[in-house]
Amino acid sequence: MPRIGDPAPAFTATTTQGEINFPADYAGKWVILFSHPADFTPVCTSEFITFAAMQNQFAAYNTELVGLSVDGLYSHIAWLRTIKDKITFRDMKNVEVNFPLIEDITMEIAQKYGMIMPGEDSTKAVRAVFVIDPTGVIRAVIYYPLSLGRNFDELLRVIKALQTAEHFAVATPADWRPGEPVIVPPAGSCSTAKQRMDGHIDGIECEDWFFCTKQISADEVESAIRTV
Ligand code: BEZ
Repeated sequence: MPRIGDPAPAFTATTTQGEINFPADYAGKWVILFSHPADFTPVCTSEFITFAAMQNQFAAYNTELVGLSVDGLYSHIAWLRTIKDKITFRDMKNVEVNFPLIEDITMEIAQKYGMIMPGEDSTKAVRAVFVIDPTGVIRAVIYYPLSLGRNFDELLRVIKALQTAEHFAVATPADWRPGEPVIVPPAGSCSTAKQRMDGHIDGIECEDWFFCTKQISADEVESAIRTV
C-alpha cells in the first residue's frame, strides 16, 4: 500500500478521456487520484456531481482530478451520460464529468494503490483519496468506507494547506483555512526558543517555545498558491 512520501506507483490506463500514463502525464501538477466503489450507485453519483462541479476550483490551485473504479469503460460512459441527463443533486444538474475516470476491471491499479479493503468489500474499491504533488510524490492519503460520501471542501482545504505549508515553510493547525495563523517550525536551538519566548522575533506569537504561530493573510496565501 503506497504511503505518504512514497512515489505514486506508475501505471497506464484506459479512461473516459483516453489513455493516461500516470503519474508522468501529470508532471508539474498536483493530482487527486480517487477511487469509488461502483458506477450507478447513489453516494458515488453525488460525489461525482460534486467533484465535477468543483473541478475549476481545484484547477485554480493547479490540481487535476482522476477517478477510478473496478467497472469497465462502457459502464463509466453510460453512468456519466446518465448523471448529465437525469440526476440533480443539491441543485446541481446537467453536470458533465470532464476529468478522466479509469476503468480497472482487473483491479490491478486498485490493488497497487491499496484501494481494495476486503474487510469492507473484496470486489469494490473503498473511497480512497491520494493527493500527489507535481513531482509525483504522495502527499496525503484519506480513506472513507463505502457508505460515507467524502467532504469535498475538506479535499480543497487539504490542497490549499499542503501548498501553503510548502510555499511558506510552515505547518497548518487544526481546521486551518487561508487567512488564519500558521505554525512556524519548532525552535531548533535553546537560543531561538528563548528569543521567541522573550518576544524578540517580529511577527511570531508564542504560546510556549514549541508552539509559535504567525499571521499570513488570505490574500498572501491566495496569491502564492492560486494559479488562475
Ligand atoms: C453508493 O455509492 O451509494 C454505494 C456504493 C457501494 C456500496 C454502498 C453504497
